[in-house]
Amino acid sequence: MSTTADRAMRVPVRDELLGVSPYGAPQLDVPVRLNTNETAEPPPAGFLEAVGDRIQSLELNRYPDRPHRQLREALAVRVGLTPDRVWAANGSNEVLAQLLQTYGGPGRLALHVRPGYSMYPELCRTTSTRSAQFDLDEDFQLDAASAAAAVTAHDPDLVLVPSPNNPVGTPVGHDAIRALHDGSRALVIVDEAYVEFGPDEASVLGLLDELPRLVIVRTFSKAFRLAGLRLGYLLAASWVVDDVQKVRLPYHLDAVKQVAGLVALEQETVFLEHRARVAAERERVSRALREIPEVEVFDSAANFLLVRSTEVSLFEPLLAHGVLVRDFSSQPRLSGCVRVTIGTAAENDAFLAALRDVLDAARA
Ligand SMILES: Cc1ncc(COP(=O)(O)O)c(C=O)c1O
Repeated sequence: MSTTADRAMRVPVRDELLGVSPYGAPQLDVPVRLNTNETAEPPPAGFLEAVGDRIQSLELNRYPDRPHRQLREALAVRVGLTPDRVWAANGSNEVLAQLLQTYGGPGRLALHVRPGYSMYPELCRTTSTRSAQFDLDEDFQLDAASAAAAVTAHDPDLVLVPSPNNPVGTPVGHDAIRALHDGSRALVIVDEAYVEFGPDEASVLGLLDELPRLVIVRTFSKAFRLAGLRLGYLLAASWVVDDVQKVRLPYHLDAVKQVAGLVALEQETVFLEHRARVAAERERVSRALREIPEVEVFDSAANFLLVRSTEVSLFEPLLAHGVLVRDFSSQPRLSGCVRVTIGTAAENDAFLAALRDVLDAARA
C-alpha cells in the first residue's frame, strides 16, 4: 500500500498502465489447484537427471547461442519444417508479446475472438496496439462466413485465435482460419497452446504453406508438462522469424533452458504419453457433470472444461472446499462460468464432490 508521501516521490506510469493490476491467476495454497491448465503429472522420471548431466558441459560464463539453433533444429524436425521457420522464447506469452511488438503498436489493430485467451487484451495494452473483439456464436463456434465478416468489418493488422479455444476448449475449423487469412491483410496468429490434447488434424500446421501470413504459436507448458520451464515457440514463414528478431532481447533464451527443451524433445514420446489419461479423465468428469441438472458443460479438446451454472455461483464456495478453479463468471458471454483443469483422478473426484456439496447446500 503506498502512502501519500510515497506517491509524491513516484514517477507516474505511462497512461496505458494507470489503474492497471498485474495480470495473473491467483496462486493460492489450497489442496486442489485446477485453475491454470498445467498438467498434474510431473515430467517423466529421468528428465531432470538427463538435463543435469547435459548442463555439466555448458560454459555458463559465456552467453547462450543467441539464435538457439540446436533447439530450433530439433523443433523443426518435429514439425517437418526448416529451422528458419521456427522461433522460441520464454513461454508462448513471450512469443505472443514479440509478435505484438513486431507487428502491432501505435496505429495498428489486433482483432481477437470473444471468449478468448485473456492475455490478448493485456498484450495489446502493453504494446499500445488497438484491440477489437468479435464473438464466437451461441455455441462458441466460429464459421467461415462470420470469420470473413469480422475481418472485413475491422480490417485488422493482426488476428489472434486460440485453438482449441481457451476458456471454451473447442478447436477452430480450418475453413474459419482460411477465411480470416484470405479475407484480410493481417498476420493470423493461431495459438495452439492446447493442441496436443486433441486430434492431430485439429492443428493448422498443414495450412502453413498455403497461408503465407499464418503463424502458429505453441508451448511446452501444457501437454509437455513443463510450465515451470517457460518455453514456447512459433512456426511461420521465415520472414516472420527474421522480423521478430528485431524486438527480441539479446540472449533472451538462456543456455539451461535451451538444453532442457532439447532433452524434452528427445523424450517426446514419454513426455506426451499422459495425454490418453488426461483425455479419459476429461471424458469421465464431463460425463459426471452432464448428470448434474444445474450445470452445463461444453465439449473440450483440451485439458480443461468450461462449466456453467446460472443459478448458483461456484467459484467462492468451491474455494471454501479447497478447490481452486478459474472464475470467468463476470466476463462478457461467460456469466455463471468457471473453468476447471483436468487434474489427477483424485483431484477431479475432489472437484466433483465439492461441486455436489455446493449444489446440495444451495438446494437446501
Ligand atoms: C491460449 C493460451 N495461450 C498461451 C498461453 C501461455 O502459455 P505459456 O506462456 O505458459 O507458454 C496460455 C496459458 O494459459 C494459454 O491458455
